[in-house]
Amino acid sequence: MAERPAAPESDTRWRSGGGFMLAALGSAVGLGNVWRFSYVVGENGGGAFLLVYLLALLLVGVPLLVAEFALGRAMRRESVAAIRRLAAGSPWRHIAWLSLVAPSLVLAYYSVVAGWVLRYLMDFSFGPPTAAGDHAAAFSAHVAGTLEPLAWQAVMLGATAAAIANEVTRGIERLNRVLMPLLALLLLAMLLQAATLDGFSRGLAFLFRPDWAALAQPRVYVAALGQVFFSLGLAMGVMVTFGSYLPRGTALHRPALAIAFGDTLAALAAGLVIFPAVFTLGLDPAQGPGLAFVVLPEVFARIPGGRLVGVAFFLLLTVAALTSMASLLEVPVAYTIQRFRVSRATASWAWMLALFLLGVPASLGYGAWSRVRDAAGRGILELMDAAAVDLLLPLNGLLLSLLIGWAWNGRRAAAATGIRPRWLAWLWLGVVRFLLPTLLLVVLGAGIARL
Ligand code: PHE
Repeated sequence: MAERPAAPESDTRWRSGGGFMLAALGSAVGLGNVWRFSYVVGENGGGAFLLVYLLALLLVGVPLLVAEFALGRAMRRESVAAIRRLAAGSPWRHIAWLSLVAPSLVLAYYSVVAGWVLRYLMDFSFGPPTAAGDHAAAFSAHVAGTLEPLAWQAVMLGATAAAIANEVTRGIERLNRVLMPLLALLLLAMLLQAATLDGFSRGLAFLFRPDWAALAQPRVYVAALGQVFFSLGLAMGVMVTFGSYLPRGTALHRPALAIAFGDTLAALAAGLVIFPAVFTLGLDPAQGPGLAFVVLPEVFARIPGGRLVGVAFFLLLTVAALTSMASLLEVPVAYTIQRFRVSRATASWAWMLALFLLGVPASLGYGAWSRVRDAAGRGILELMDAAAVDLLLPLNGLLLSLLIGWAWNGRRAAAATGIRPRWLAWLWLGVVRFLLPTLLLVVLGAGIARL
């Protein structure tokens, strides 16, 4: 394919590999590592899930991350335009829509959970303390509200839109440079504290000793694969767009592996803090999306200086959520600016409003609309999450791997990854052509069967 000059929206280059890594890691590390990882592990039997997760990370996550980076870099465009360009003239160009729909749907309910985080930050900073033992009730009471959770959700989305409208994401990234290591340090300190708990060895066993019987359940595979997509930010256009900022020639497997490693480390640290506390306090690991919001405050309520630790933790998590939200919002905004020639501010605020409205049912699903549930008892937020993560993301991943693997000239695609030696690049292409579609088709089938 003839190379045309870079699209105007893509001509900012990362000045250093470090800046790119930090931005991509800032996007990857978010609520997915603390909130989603812990509750999905808890619901899916612990160690068995983790084993499948790690396999899916290496076999699907890393190759697809390389593929998305390579596509963005070779096409020099944000995701929708990049996909359309590779698929130019064929009906495959329509799959670009999925890379717009998926991040929008995710952002709508992600912002609800981000609102919970902000509310906890405010409570720990200014509110009267909640007594130890009362945090499960406090969480249920908070999420059941109508206006208050919606207001926190709006604040988080508004902050994201303001950042995207004013292009201050670079500033947030610089903030990240300080705050991400701090989050790592804080998790480490919390881990040392967790190691003193009675339930530590049970927590470890839950997380690292697979219950082999659980491996017979298809839902474990669906959940693990979905979590890989969610946590790495795959099939949402985000990583294609990041790739479009990368300098040519550098090998893409190194940053992909480093991001997968760092992201997993953050999730494991959160798990190692949460599960020992779950067993020490006699809580249910399979209690669902509230898990982290009940367990961590219970821990903070019991340790000396816990209130301050709580403030620090929720502050860092708020920033982690914001960087993830900004990278999600950038996808539809970049597309809208380019397609409709509107200003960045108009696009940002219009999308913010639309996504807020889309997120309203997810929030009300815990209160006024809590009777809307499926047969398995899942509420609106969980159903939106399942639709996005168990279906839309693997479907888009499947289509993307077919497009990148087969519509792209093999030699060009392999070269676009910058991977040396050659055989390793061809191995990557083989994985994208054969292994990814096969695995994704099987897991997608299992996901559909579960509907
Ligand atoms: N990976 C982020 C998290 O774990 C969520 C996210 C997905 C961010 C897709 C950007 C793009 O919270």
